[in-house]
Amino acid sequence: MVDVAAMLSLVLEVIVLTGKLLYFWLEAMVLAVLPVSIQGKDISGETVLITGSGSGIGRLLAKRFADRSCRLVLWDINKEANEETAAEVQRFGITVKTYTVDLSDAKQIYQAAEKVKREMGDIDILVNNAGIVTGRKFMQCPDEMVQKTMQVNVQAHFWTAKAFLPSMMDRNHGHIVNIASSAGLLGVSGLADYCASKFAAVGFDDSLKYELESSGLTGVHTTAVCPYLIDTGMFDGCKSRFSFLLPKLNPDDVVDGIMDAMLCNSAIVILPKILYAFIALKGILPIKVVFLLCDFMGVNSMMNTFKGRGKEQ
Ligand SMILES: NC(=O)c1ccc[n+]([C@@H]2O[C@H](COP(=O)([O-])OP(=O)(O)OC[C@H]3O[C@@H](n4cnc5c(N)ncnc54)[C@H](O)[C@@H]3O)[C@@H](O)[C@H]2O)c1
Repeated sequence: MVDVAAMLSLVLEVIVLTGKLLYFWLEAMVLAVLPVSIQGKDISGETVLITGSGSGIGRLLAKRFADRSCRLVLWDINKEANEETAAEVQRFGITVKTYTVDLSDAKQIYQAAEKVKREMGDIDILVNNAGIVTGRKFMQCPDEMVQKTMQVNVQAHFWTAKAFLPSMMDRNHGHIVNIASSAGLLGVSGLADYCASKFAAVGFDDSLKYELESSGLTGVHTTAVCPYLIDTGMFDGCKSRFSFLLPKLNPDDVVDGIMDAMLCNSAIVILPKILYAFIALKGILPIKVVFLLCDFMGVNSMMNTFKGRGKEQ
């Protein structure tokens, strides 16, 4: 016997679902073309914590947030470099405070977080940016270095989120930006530990997003950032056969992309956009074809010329 009432209720649910799907699809299309100046949120006066602010992307982000009149909390293991960043942003007339923290140590993270809460109050925007790379083939990579990569590149994201997310959830207001990498979406020969940490960072971001959304916390956002190689020095020496077609990204362009994505509450930003096509192709092509193409493009040997910053990181 068919339960007519249950059937009608299901049909109604499917109609409402279809309507919502079409609405969100349309909304995404409009937002994709609407300028950031119109759809972007106002973050002036917000307190922003950036990890790894002593160099590269972290330092550039500090300047962008300072330019938007944010209060800054800067975390880095390198005290001197971090203070240089603070000195550079002081000209914007904002409040900035530096903390020397080793992000591979959960205890130091929690201790620094307590100090930040006492001295600077709640964090509105947390940017998990600090990252390291060993640049060695997996079997040549000592266990301690593998562990350190996982600790800095992903575990630190867990502990900073545990420390600062509760107040964001209480206020239903906040944003966590997780700087991962395109190596968190596509595996690369010679980067096994780094890719593992970045895939984990992407997975963490994605899951957290669903948890927040399904808890009804529509005011707390997360953004995963997945750029290709950036010209900051971290990946010095790496080049593929077609580097002239896909050169290392300009750090300022990457920071533009990160700021736009954060201001628009985008779920993920992949840079450059051509990588969306590579990711889709990897999903549909046979694995041997993918391997052959990677070999032809020199991706499999890209790390052979890696120099990095010239010291064990
Ligand atoms: N440079 C690239 O090609 C590239 C590409 C994709 C993603 N990324 C990611 O972007 C982020 C920023 O990269 P970048 O190029 O600016 O790197 P960078 O080396 O210029 O800066 C990293 C910063 O993190 C700090 N740091 C390192 N270990 C730390 C620790 N244990 N505790 C606290 N601070 C620590 C360093 O002192 C440095 O200031 C990283 O997460 C990186 O993995 C970089």
